[in-house]
Amino acid sequence: MLQRLTNSGPMNEVLELQSTYLRSKPLEDRKSLGQFFTAPVVANYMASMLHKPKDKKVRVLDAGAGTGILTVSTAAQLLELDCKLVHAVLYELDSSVISHLNQTMKLIENLYQSKKGQFTFEVRNSDFVLDRPAKLESFDVSVINPPYFKYNVKTSPYAKAVSDLYSGDPNIYASFMAIVTASLNEGGQMVAITPRSFTNGLYFKNFRDYLLGATAIESIHIFKHRNRVFKNDADKVLQENIICKFVKSANYETVEVRASDCDSSLTNTTIQKYPLELIVDRSNDQRLIRIPESLMEAKHLKQAEQLESTFTDSGYFISTGPVVEHRTRNFIVSADNRSNTAPLYRPHNVTPYTALWTGEDKKDVRFELQEQHEKHMLKNKNYVLLKRFSSKDEKRRLVSGVYLAKYFENLEFIGFGNKVNYIGVKSGELTKKEAYGLSAIFNGSFFDRYFRCISGNTQVNATEIRVMRFPTRDQVRTIGEEVLKLKAFDADKNNTIVNRVLKIKDTV
Ligand SMILES: C[S@@+](CC[C@H](N)C(=O)[O-])C[C@H]1O[C@@H](n2cnc3c(N)ncnc32)[C@H](O)[C@@H]1O
Repeated sequence: MLQRLTNSGPMNEVLELQSTYLRSKPLEDRKSLGQFFTAPVVANYMASMLHKPKDKKVRVLDAGAGTGILTVSTAAQLLELDCKLVHAVLYELDSSVISHLNQTMKLIENLYQSKKGQFTFEVRNSDFVLDRPAKLESFDVSVINPPYFKYNVKTSPYAKAVSDLYSGDPNIYASFMAIVTASLNEGGQMVAITPRSFTNGLYFKNFRDYLLGATAIESIHIFKHRNRVFKNDADKVLQENIICKFVKSANYETVEVRASDCDSSLTNTTIQKYPLELIVDRSNDQRLIRIPESLMEAKHLKQAEQLESTFTDSGYFISTGPVVEHRTRNFIVSADNRSNTAPLYRPHNVTPYTALWTGEDKKDVRFELQEQHEKHMLKNKNYVLLKRFSSKDEKRRLVSGVYLAKYFENLEFIGFGNKVNYIGVKSGELTKKEAYGLSAIFNGSFFDRYFRCISGNTQVNATEIRVMRFPTRDQVRTIGEEVLKLKAFDADKNNTIVNRVLKIKDTV
């Protein structure tokens, strides 16, 4: 049925209606509404994750329906599952798409009639977050592609709209998912395509708490190549997206992780089941959702779980460099200005093992130690720097170099920009040996892969590093001692040392 729908009949008409709408609506207007439509192949795939609901009459909730493609696929899947009585409630804020949405739903109504079923629907031209479904309404299935945008917590009416469910509201897609969750029956199913950002990061912590408390994750689909989903849409979405299926009030011991290259290769999906505790880290209050893309990555994750300590428990701290350049422009001077200044480390100064500032690179700058400089500067001590951003094309996420106080021994202060993280020990002094040990661990492929299971983001946040499993300080020092014998950074030799000391096997 799904195949037939994709290639002919109602789906073609649905797509024609969608094209007419797309031609009529300027891109800028669509962007402001977070209006990116799901490709039919993805919509059908998402709907195929649904299983047969218990109730004879199935209630469907579409939040941010657009031209209705997700309800089309959902309705087709329900017919396939022999559910012939379906009622859909569709929310859409944009009044200019409503007539297209109604026409699409009529097509489904006809399809059901032709199969001796009944499909009824109600389109609500209103705001899903501000005019959310009443408490008494409840739904069995919801397949959604919510809008994505951040809003201002101080000025936006959205900020308080879900405060009964969780606090701290970083992006409207999380509000959509939370309201859908609240609106589901026990056993109700939600399939959502969203950015991966909610699976980690401090901002989404309370949202994760709510979501993982109210539902169980049944499966996660990860696209190995970012930016390739929605490629049919003229305006590509530059986000790493995942599809997750949640079931309300369920309790699963395992989570299914599916992976494919991009949306057109959905038929070529690998499927693995992992124990829940490997996917949801319940060892701390962050509740990170880790997603291994392959069996190899899962192996890495399992081995990382065996490490004896965590980064913080081992006695280390990590923070973001305090210099925010756009707020301190009048402090920033050129590299050759040596009087009353300190070097300011930027990402280009951080290379594997060595955080090098020579003043000769054209991007090198200094920070003037004028009045109030203290709050932007750090005491000149030994640190390990870890880049906060990698570019999309870079193979590695983690790049780390050692900064030693003796590089600028006459200086009391040193400057680290906010595009680098700095690492030190909570008490005492970080020795050169230990600093090299830390740098070697972060530059090793084992840790890089472990980090990738936690974060889909190219950004390396201190909050994620703090809760990662980590070697003991003795192990860090042993690694440091060995890598100091190397003449220069050598990725293979570095891996060999780190993996031998940490007893890591099978790292390809
Ligand atoms: C990412 S699009 C997805 C559309 C459609 N479900 C699909 O998958 O093709 C999100 C839709 O949500 C609508 N939208 C944005 N903010 C909304 C809100 N607060 N309430 C209801 N709909 C909203 C947009 O107009 C847009 O049609």
